[in-house]
Amino acid sequence: MKKIVIIGATSAVATETARCFALEGAELFIAGRSQEKLERLADDLRVRGAAVVHTGLFNARDLASHDQLLESAYHTLGEIDAALIAHGDLPDQTECQHSWIGTEQALATNFLSPVAFLTWLANYFEKRGTGNITAISSVAGDRGRQSNYIYGSAKGALSVFLQGLRNRLAPRGVSVTTIKPGFIDTPMTADIKKGPLFASAELVGTRVHKAMKRGDSVVYTPFFWRFIMLIIIHIPEFIFKRLKL
Ligand SMILES: NC(=O)c1ccc[n+]([C@@H]2O[C@H](COP(=O)([O-])OP(=O)(O)OC[C@H]3O[C@@H](n4cnc5c(N)ncnc54)[C@H](OP(=O)(O)O)[C@@H]3O)[C@@H](O)[C@H]2O)c1
Repeated sequence: MKKIVIIGATSAVATETARCFALEGAELFIAGRSQEKLERLADDLRVRGAAVVHTGLFNARDLASHDQLLESAYHTLGEIDAALIAHGDLPDQTECQHSWIGTEQALATNFLSPVAFLTWLANYFEKRGTGNITAISSVAGDRGRQSNYIYGSAKGALSVFLQGLRNRLAPRGVSVTTIKPGFIDTPMTADIKKGPLFASAELVGTRVHKAMKRGDSVVYTPFFWRFIMLIIIHIPEFIFKRLKL
């Protein structure tokens, strides 16, 4: 894989994935909402061995601009071997419960924006007949819980969208990868008390890189979340609805 697009590249996890591709001498198109952060990351990736690093700006709330960003990535790189969609935002659940405006924004950033990017990418890769599309969802999307079901429902919808896309593109030789991390120690969880289940951005980002190269389907990371979620999914609803989770 030589030409990689990373949307939401300034995220702690995506930064680690980008560093893995830089070590391999890849040509990267990194996109984010802050030019200053992107320039800093681009310098870091060049020092680590990236052949060339291009940057592009977007805001997840401006859905209409997403096609244009990917068109510009395509024209800059000439072709795209793989794309990662990594941006996301953890909304204040209580605030969203009092106003649908927060919920609308959370759904736009965590679901509609990835879907807008995925729609362009799916059509591009379907025509190309090879490549990988990866997006970061979350274990939070596997079952709705009172503490974060707004974020969880956006990620759950994203997981289902990716599942359908995988089914559509597999016969065309294109892999679609859903990443389902558990807790990661990143700026997104800065206000959450850390416990033994927290993984580092480096561990998760490195796993994302491996998954993209292998064209994995669904990746729980760290791996033990697959077993945790298997148990959580199978708790009967009449018990689950009484749990304080
Ligand atoms: N941390 C966790 O525990 C955890 C668990 C499961 C899944 N995830 C998912 O993992 C992915 C990476 O997150 P992270 O943990 O690495 O957190 P992070 O470092 O806080 O990264 C979040 C990224 O999203 C970008 N972003 C947020 N709102 C945006 C908007 N309106 N427009 C454009 N970009 C926007 C941020 O841009 P700026 O850099 O400019 O702020 C940043 O690059 C996300 O999809 C997240 O939902 C995280």
